[in-house]
Amino acid sequence: MGLNQGRTPPGSRWRIPGHGRPRGDAVSLELGRESPAFPSLHACPVAAGETETGFGANVTVLPAGWSPAGYGPPALDGPALDGPALDGLLVSAEQFITLYHSENQLGSPDRRLRRVRREIEASGTYWHTPAELAFGARVAWRNSSRCIGRLYWRNLRVRDRRGVTAAPDIAAEAVTHLREATNGGRIRPVITVFAPDGPGRPGPRILSSQLVRYAGYETAGGAVIGDPANADLTRLARDLGWPGGWPAGRFDILPLLVQESGAPVTPHEIPADAVLEITIEHPEFRWFADLWLRWYAVPVISDMYLDIGGVRYPAAPFNGWYMCTEIGSRDLGDSGRYGQLPVIAARMGLSTASDRNLWKDKAMTELNLAVLHSFSNAGVTITDHHTEAVRFLQHMEREERHGRACPADWTWIVPPAASSATPVFHRYYQDFDQTPNFYRHPAPALGPALALGPAPASQGTASCHDLHQRID
Ligand code: ARG
Repeated sequence: MGLNQGRTPPGSRWRIPGHGRPRGDAVSLELGRESPAFPSLHACPVAAGETETGFGANVTVLPAGWSPAGYGPPALDGPALDGPALDGLLVSAEQFITLYHSENQLGSPDRRLRRVRREIEASGTYWHTPAELAFGARVAWRNSSRCIGRLYWRNLRVRDRRGVTAAPDIAAEAVTHLREATNGGRIRPVITVFAPDGPGRPGPRILSSQLVRYAGYETAGGAVIGDPANADLTRLARDLGWPGGWPAGRFDILPLLVQESGAPVTPHEIPADAVLEITIEHPEFRWFADLWLRWYAVPVISDMYLDIGGVRYPAAPFNGWYMCTEIGSRDLGDSGRYGQLPVIAARMGLSTASDRNLWKDKAMTELNLAVLHSFSNAGVTITDHHTEAVRFLQHMEREERHGRACPADWTWIVPPAASSATPVFHRYYQDFDQTPNFYRHPAPALGPALALGPAPASQGTASCHDLHQRID
């Protein structure tokens, strides 16, 4: 384990916005167009559906007008929403405020509802109280039907940073989030909520799919050094002036890409000492350390928006802790990611000539074991899929006892290793969309000068592959 050990911090070679401009210019992103060329890269547990809901979906970028003047409710001079959008917001707000009052035994919500209605009619939005925000964020986790780790939903720490809007400040808060969540290895689930979208003014956005991501450098031959899942982010970071590691490394931490409300995207370096990383070793295979594998301790999803009662928070990074299969089976194991299974199998002395000796299964098991062993050894919180599957069923029972149905997506809940050896495999679930919730942002479409790939395929021409590919 080490704090970013063995990695040259790029800080000395490039400049951080707010302290002088980086080489190259900031890129303008047009938000709201789906682009397979820049897929939302977030992955596993804690993800939800991709449907757009809430009035936020209709908010377009108008010339200024709505400004929350620092911390507190917006000024009451926002442009009026059109009828259906206003009705939609009123309905969502009423449903959320009623839920908040009933689950917290707060008595009749009528007074609060009248205030919220007046606020919406006057300004086109409303401002959650800190307690409503905290409850909404926790319930959004509870409603995330792809997440197996929801037993702990009540323990989410909520950092209310709705007053923070400037890109450098957002980046600094993201770094503080990382430190608080890392907590020396005893990982704490945390969410930081930045300013909401308002009529006539979108909130800020974080383009990076997680706060910590390893660069994926495309080489001339088409191979990628590092994490291929982040090749697009890496290209964008470089277009924005990030020089990249020299030489390019397999585990270079990307700068955080932040878009302040209505402004161009800017890159922000994450200080090396804010990122806890674990070197991967195996409890028995001494040679495993020679593969020089590592991973970071805290997965902080940052490309999803939080919808609470019709109000959309476009930048609301949140984290739990890792389950070993996320890293072992997927991040380091997937052939489209670090693709380590053939390497491990070869070192184990297994033939990779045929699938029938199950070399992939054996290598994957050893890799998962190495991840668990290394995190535990380093004193960093991690769970395994067997334990988490049992806990998830406990969570479902607990939810039922509270009279709540628990939505779940079998295809995400069932782990990618030893599936049928876990109890979550042997049953079906009801999946349905319920707010508050987290939704994946429509991928940003880059301006023509910096297009990140071929134009998006239309539904009609997409190949079977496009339509069936699972994007984590
Ligand atoms: N699967 C993602 C990754 O491997 C992280 C998703 C969130 N996971 C979590 N345990 N909260 O980086």
